[in-house]
Amino acid sequence: MRVLVVGGGAREHVAAWALARSGSKIYTVMKNNNPGLRRLSEEVLIHPETDVETVASWAEGRVEMAFIGPEAPLEKGLVDILEERGIPTVGPSREAARLETSKSFMRDLMRRHNLPGQVAYRYCENMDDLRTAVGEMGTEVVVKPVGLTGGKGARVYGEHLHGEEDIYRYGEEIFGGYGGGRLVVEEKLTGEEFTLQAFTDGRRLLPTPLVQDHKRAYEGDEGPNTGGMGSYSMADHLLPFVTQEEREQALSIMQGVIDAMREEGTPYKGILYGQFMLTRDGPKVVEFNARFGDPEAMNVLSILDDPLEEIFRGLVSGDLPTKASFRHLATVCRYVVPVGYGSSPKKGVRLEVDEKRIRESGALLFYASVDERDGAVYTTTSRSLAVVGASPEMKGAVESCERALEAVRGEYYVRHDIGTPEAIERKKRHMEQVRSGGQ
Ligand code: AMP
Ligand code: GLY
Repeated sequence: MRVLVVGGGAREHVAAWALARSGSKIYTVMKNNNPGLRRLSEEVLIHPETDVETVASWAEGRVEMAFIGPEAPLEKGLVDILEERGIPTVGPSREAARLETSKSFMRDLMRRHNLPGQVAYRYCENMDDLRTAVGEMGTEVVVKPVGLTGGKGARVYGEHLHGEEDIYRYGEEIFGGYGGGRLVVEEKLTGEEFTLQAFTDGRRLLPTPLVQDHKRAYEGDEGPNTGGMGSYSMADHLLPFVTQEEREQALSIMQGVIDAMREEGTPYKGILYGQFMLTRDGPKVVEFNARFGDPEAMNVLSILDDPLEEIFRGLVSGDLPTKASFRHLATVCRYVVPVGYGSSPKKGVRLEVDEKRIRESGALLFYASVDERDGAVYTTTSRSLAVVGASPEMKGAVESCERALEAVRGEYYVRHDIGTPEAIERKKRHMEQVRSGGQ
């Protein structure tokens, strides 16, 4: 089948790779010239992915199905336009995508349907609202713009905000226009985060293995929030600090959301991404995304045994397969990013990528927001490339990831702590502490 892939990151590269392995012919629209996607594609259009009219016109007559990687074109209604033109699409309509594109919509929906996993929050439109919210909730909060910020908008009290004045300063920035000009204040949760991604046809969910992302820019989970610096998953498809029962709880929250969306007349189909904080009182919803996670897509799609095209075909026709098999391997994905990523990324830096050596390391390479020019790869302001190791034991996965990273030369930054036994042990201990009533 001829499939349109929209987006030029590693998430789209891994999806195209999995689709191609299942027999699809790939047609890509992306804003940057991602060399991995280009090589996998029959044809490529380099163009802003949010210009939905042009994307749809290009796709019409070329493809039989579409997959949308990033959130920005969802917000612009790309799925609605493609489907109007007869192209079934893996992704939610513009209205259904509000689960991600509006943090207040998501929280209100959970409240209306009385779903478990809720978090105390206040929606604020101006400084008076914000002062009232802080008056009622105290300062142990997280402040988030309501709209999209590329994963960089949430500021946590005690980490990014120190003192009430910081909260108000950030409020002024948001009310001045950042992330949609409105915000939510949420109770600050304590625990460990995990990601559960699932395919959905609007009724049923087909879950994939649990993953833990690392959103902070620096080793030891310090620094500003980013789109995600890397992630890991375990061979048993759980995480060392999450029980089977807690995974089921998270999945049933997601099922509740899918049911709620259908009941409200905005059925949600595509990929549903649940970001949870595992607290002392079980999993709570940090956010939903209307797409695969980036980097989390790499952890699950790299070990998917079943043909992705078949899953997608079932998804768009309302008849999602009931099972998908994933290899029982531990995976670790690390992102090579420009120096300064998270604050002031250095773009236009040349990276030397020895693909042959990476293949020999046993790891997989997925290109992200780089530009290929004259046979070389250059950084942009976003993440550059993802290296994924997989092995029955985490140790083997980390080793192949490290070997692969030796084959990338140039000025860049990478978090070497992701997936290491020490880092995972620290998270396990932290969760034990939280369960026993500590921070
Ligand atoms: P978000 O933009 O909603 O994905 O948030 C980005 C990151 O901020 C999350 O991955 C968490 O690490 C942190 N965060 C967001 N909301 C909360 C919360 N209510 N309590 C504690 N940490 C949070
Ligand atoms: N890894 C977080 C995200 O995709 O938003």
